[in-house]
Amino acid sequence: MGDIFADRVVVGSEDRLAEMFGGDLGNEGIKFSAGNPNAQFFPVTEMKQAFNHAIEAYGNQMFEYQTVSGFSQLRRQLTTWAEQTAQISTTPANILLTQGGQQALDLIGKLLLNAGDEIVVEAPTYVGALSAFDQYDPRYYDVALEPDGLNLTQLEHLLQHHPGIKLLYTVPDFHNPTGVTMSLAKRKRLVTLAEKYDFLILEDTPYRDLRYKGKQLPAIKSFDRQGHVLFVSSFSKILMPGLRVGWVVADQAIIQRLRKLKTSSDLETPGLVLAALEQYMEHNDLKKHIAGMLPTYRSRLEAMLAVLDETMPAEVEYTRPEGGFFIWLTLPDAINVQKLLNETCIPEDKISFVPGKVFYAHKDQQNGIRLNFSGVSEEQIKLGITKLSNSLRQAIMLKKVKIAL
Ligand SMILES: Cc1ncc(COP(=O)(O)O)c(C=O)c1O
Repeated sequence: MGDIFADRVVVGSEDRLAEMFGGDLGNEGIKFSAGNPNAQFFPVTEMKQAFNHAIEAYGNQMFEYQTVSGFSQLRRQLTTWAEQTAQISTTPANILLTQGGQQALDLIGKLLLNAGDEIVVEAPTYVGALSAFDQYDPRYYDVALEPDGLNLTQLEHLLQHHPGIKLLYTVPDFHNPTGVTMSLAKRKRLVTLAEKYDFLILEDTPYRDLRYKGKQLPAIKSFDRQGHVLFVSSFSKILMPGLRVGWVVADQAIIQRLRKLKTSSDLETPGLVLAALEQYMEHNDLKKHIAGMLPTYRSRLEAMLAVLDETMPAEVEYTRPEGGFFIWLTLPDAINVQKLLNETCIPEDKISFVPGKVFYAHKDQQNGIRLNFSGVSEEQIKLGITKLSNSLRQAIMLKKVKIAL
C-alpha cells in the first residue's frame, strides 16, 4: 500500500498533530496541554435560539446550496467587527468565510506555495499552520520571537539574502504557543518591510479579542496600503470552535482566487451555521459575551504566573502574556522535554503539557514547553505547576551532576 499515497500525506503533517497530545493521564490528571476555549462559556441557549431565528427568518433557503464567499449578511457584520476591534476598514467583497481559521491557512498555502517556495515562520509557531503548509512542501526559514514579537533584524537579513521569499506567517496577538504579542512599532515596520521586499504577510489572529491586560493594538492589516496583508480570524476561541467558522480579509484579487480553491474543496461553509451566527450577532452582544469570559481567563493567567514566580527554578525562563491561552517555558538546552513528559510528568506527576519540538518548522529545538492556563482551575494550576517545577528542578540538577562527572 505504501506507494499509493501522495507525497503530501507522508511529509509529516500527520506526525506534528499526533505528537502534540501523547499519553493518557486518567481522570485525576491535570491537562496543561489543551488549546480549546473553556466549554463552560459556550452560549448554548442563545445559539439554539439563533439557529431557530435563522430558519424562521430565511426559511427553506437555509437548506439550499448558497455562495462560496459565505452568507453576505454575516460578512457585512464582520466589516463592522473588523473596524471596531482591529481598525481594519474593509468591505464584504474582501471577506471570505471559511471552515475555521484552519481552512483559511490551508487555502492560503494552496494559493501561494509551490514545492520549494520560500516562507518565513516564527520559531516557534502554530503547529496547525505548519501541518497545513507542510502539504505544499515549502522551504521554511525560521525567525526568532522576542518579548515584543518577531525579530525584525533577523527577518530583514533573511529577506536580503533570499529575495524569493513569498510569505511570512505570523500570529501577532497572544501567540500560540508563546503568548507573545507584537508591538505597535513592529507591526508598522513589518508592513514597510513587506512593501520594500515584496512579500505577503499572513496575519493569523484568533486570540486578539482575548486581552486581559493592557490596550488592544490595531491589526497589522490596518497598516496595509498595498494589499500585502492577508488577515485571518475565527469564532473558535471567542465563541464556539464546533461552529467551524473563520474568515479571511484580503484584496479582492486574492479573495477571488481563494474562492476558486474553496469551491473545489467544499463548495461552501454550511449556510445554516453562518446564518445562525449572523442571527446570534444580531440578537446578542458578542463583545459582552467576550467580556464575560475575561475575568476567569485573567485570574487563571495571573494564578499561573504567580506559581511560576514562586516555584520555578531560576534556570527556566517564561513569557508573561497579556491575553490568549498560553505561556511558554524555555528550559536549559540540555533538558529533553519529551523525555521528561513521557517518563516523569505523565506517569508520576499526572500532568501534561505540549513539548516544544512540534512548534518548530524543522523540529530542531527540544527545550520548550507550552502550558495552557485557560482550561484548568486555579487549584489545578497551583498543584500542577508546583509538581512541574519540582520535576524540572530535579531534571536540571541531574544534568548538572552528569556534566560535572
Ligand atoms: C494560531 C491559530 N490559528 C488558527 C487556529 C485554528 O482554529 P480554528 O480552525 O478553530 O478557527 C488555531 C487553533 O488553535 C490557532 O491557535
